[in-house]
Amino acid sequence: MENLPFIIRKMTERDIDEVVRIEQESFPVPWSKEAYLGELKNNFAVYLVCDYEGEIAGYGGMWIVFEEAHITNIAVDKRFRGKGMGRSLLEELERIAREKNALRIVLEVRPSNHVARNLYKSVGFVETSIRKGYYSNNGEDAIVMTKLLF
Ligand SMILES: CC(C)(COP(=O)(O)OP(=O)(O)OC[C@H]1O[C@@H](n2cnc3c(N)ncnc32)[C@H](O)[C@@H]1OP(=O)(O)O)[C@@H](O)C(=O)NCCC(=O)NCCS
Repeated sequence: MENLPFIIRKMTERDIDEVVRIEQESFPVPWSKEAYLGELKNNFAVYLVCDYEGEIAGYGGMWIVFEEAHITNIAVDKRFRGKGMGRSLLEELERIAREKNALRIVLEVRPSNHVARNLYKSVGFVETSIRKGYYSNNGEDAIVMTKLLF
């Protein structure tokens, strides 16, 4: 894999237009700009971006409530997929979750999203349950994946 010079850093308000552009190309029911602005003010939330030479190439976030970190969103710009950015975002989220004493990380993923499922498996998540009809756009179930941090 080519070694791209990207860094993972905290998301700021200035990143949000780019984040929302990637969000819209990545998800059937995208979060709005206002939703992301709200997330940046949420004390329980941690949002990161992948910054590739000043350009936002991806982002990811989670809520940490007591001992549980819950990944809300993670996406990489179509042009930059398959270059390790998704994995780096996830690894940094995990590092922060551990630092904040979370004992597990959970997330939901569509059964049809094989790329994301592979990514999560490759960093140690296991499929722990199903949420029936979770996704509002097509009634697809969600697979809940969990990684224990102890
Ligand atoms: C899921 C997503 C964030 C992955 O980001 P990425 O930067 O492309 O992923 P990476 O390059 O870090 O790849 C990490 C692992 O993912 C898996 N993966 C990546 N691309 C893949 C592909 N085309 N086919 C199968 N598995 C793939 C592999 O396990 C890969 O590990 P490997 O390179 O050692 O084989 C990205 O595809 C994306 O934005 N998808 C749309 C939004 C989305 O579905 N988000 C997740 C919602 S739950």
